[in-house]
Amino acid sequence: MVTVKRLTGVVGLALAASLVFSAEPVTHAQAPAAQAPTFNKDVLPIVQRSCQTCHRPGTHAPMSLLNYRDARPWARSMKQKVTSREMPPWHIDRSIGEYLEDPSLSDKEVASIAAWVDGGAVEGRASDAPPPRTFSSNSEWTYGQPDLIVRMEKGFKIPADGPDFIPEEHVDPGLTEDRYVKWVQIIPDAHRAVHHAHVYVDLPEGTDKEGLGMGMGSNVGNSLDLIEYGAGNDADVFPDGTAKILKKGAQFRFEAHYHPYGEATFDRMRVGIKFYPKGVVPNRVVTSHRIRTGVGNDWVLNRERIEDLLLRVGEKISIDEPSMPTGALIAENPLHAAALLSIPPNSVVQHERFWPLPKPALIISFQPHMHFRGSKMILEAIHPDGRREVLTSATQYEQNWQVTYKYKTPHLFPAGTILHTVSTHDNTANNKHNPDPTAWIGWGSRTMDEMGHGWTDVAFLSDAQYQEELALRRAQRKTTDARQ
Ligand code: HEC
Repeated sequence: MVTVKRLTGVVGLALAASLVFSAEPVTHAQAPAAQAPTFNKDVLPIVQRSCQTCHRPGTHAPMSLLNYRDARPWARSMKQKVTSREMPPWHIDRSIGEYLEDPSLSDKEVASIAAWVDGGAVEGRASDAPPPRTFSSNSEWTYGQPDLIVRMEKGFKIPADGPDFIPEEHVDPGLTEDRYVKWVQIIPDAHRAVHHAHVYVDLPEGTDKEGLGMGMGSNVGNSLDLIEYGAGNDADVFPDGTAKILKKGAQFRFEAHYHPYGEATFDRMRVGIKFYPKGVVPNRVVTSHRIRTGVGNDWVLNRERIEDLLLRVGEKISIDEPSMPTGALIAENPLHAAALLSIPPNSVVQHERFWPLPKPALIISFQPHMHFRGSKMILEAIHPDGRREVLTSATQYEQNWQVTYKYKTPHLFPAGTILHTVSTHDNTANNKHNPDPTAWIGWGSRTMDEMGHGWTDVAFLSDAQYQEELALRRAQRKTTDARQ
């Protein structure tokens, strides 16, 4: 409150000054009042850390916030977006968990931006500005030269306007042996048009999926995730000893979500991969998993029942079908959990998903995925002793943002720990993204249908690795405790 009062005083003073010296008006930029926050001193450091990765020329974001000139016209909107916590996109309860690359603002930082705007959005002294943050060109590889570069062969035309579209292109990367990925980066040609993109790796027939950490209750499909581009992320760098794997003979599948932005353009994005040296076998292999009962677990744990249901459904559905064939929305369709995701009109509903970890594991990240009605999702661990621990609580979910929350220290869990998600869908008119609160919504892959997936990146461990990691963490905890 004190700050607000003082600021009102400052504005009054500046006004009085310009009245008295009206022949030579004093601009805010030249003479900031002593106490008012200024762009150069108070706002720029925040913006450099939390906004500029996206808000700079040549990205998907609508405007640059590199300097005062660029930012000034957006001052009001900046205040509105940071106080509502829509920007930066980091839509979780910040008091739970610690994350890598966390751009979120403290309450104090939000207050500084608001006070800067309320105080007239002045520039301040040039000498107060921190040196500009430098960014590597977004058409070059950030971490050096990749060993393998795979580019879309045909690419896609993005018209000046029209609806978003999500095409796919398959490319053979020519992998003649298994290799482990140290880092991976995507570079699109048409940065502005790419909302987000994936490169999936379709596995060759006969791959030992369990050996890869797949097919144990969470993946029914036949592909690994190599990288997701978007929401400020264009590269994944794995710590030493941790890797994604590329199997000999695997095929790449580019899937890009394009967003027309007013200028026709063309994109042939490429993905660059740095491998671990030949012969080095990292002991942690990361795979992506969806927490979803009704598909994965039922599938693996209860195959007979599923096959029986499929027969009764009478649809021609492939046993490996990863998504819903048109017209197959049947209450008991177990492949798609339709019976488990039912969102009546004008209601707010919750759905749960469970995944008992088949092996000890490190949980590396969490990404909630829902569509327009999605409003919240919690990921919690139910420990073997029944204790429940919330790992991440997405309190302000927005489907426009596919943010991956990467844990600063991956969670270490024994086999049998249950990962549990609770998703909330708000199908009322209070949800400003809801296209139609009168519709009854079920599971489906179209944007007007719904999903309730928790995606998580996991590195499975052997029992011995688990014990080793546990001992290491206990020792570290002891040292920190002793220091305090
Ligand atoms: C991860 C990328 C990313 C980060 C980080 C980010 N923004 Fe944004 N911002 C966007 C994109 C993309 C849009 C346009 C789409 C939207 O509004 O959802 C946007 C929209 C905005 C808008 C609304 C613009 C308009 O058209 O009205 C404002 C204001 C804004 N951001 C301010 C900020 C501020 C301030 C920060 C840092 C505190 C920040 N953003 C951090 C990507 C980002």
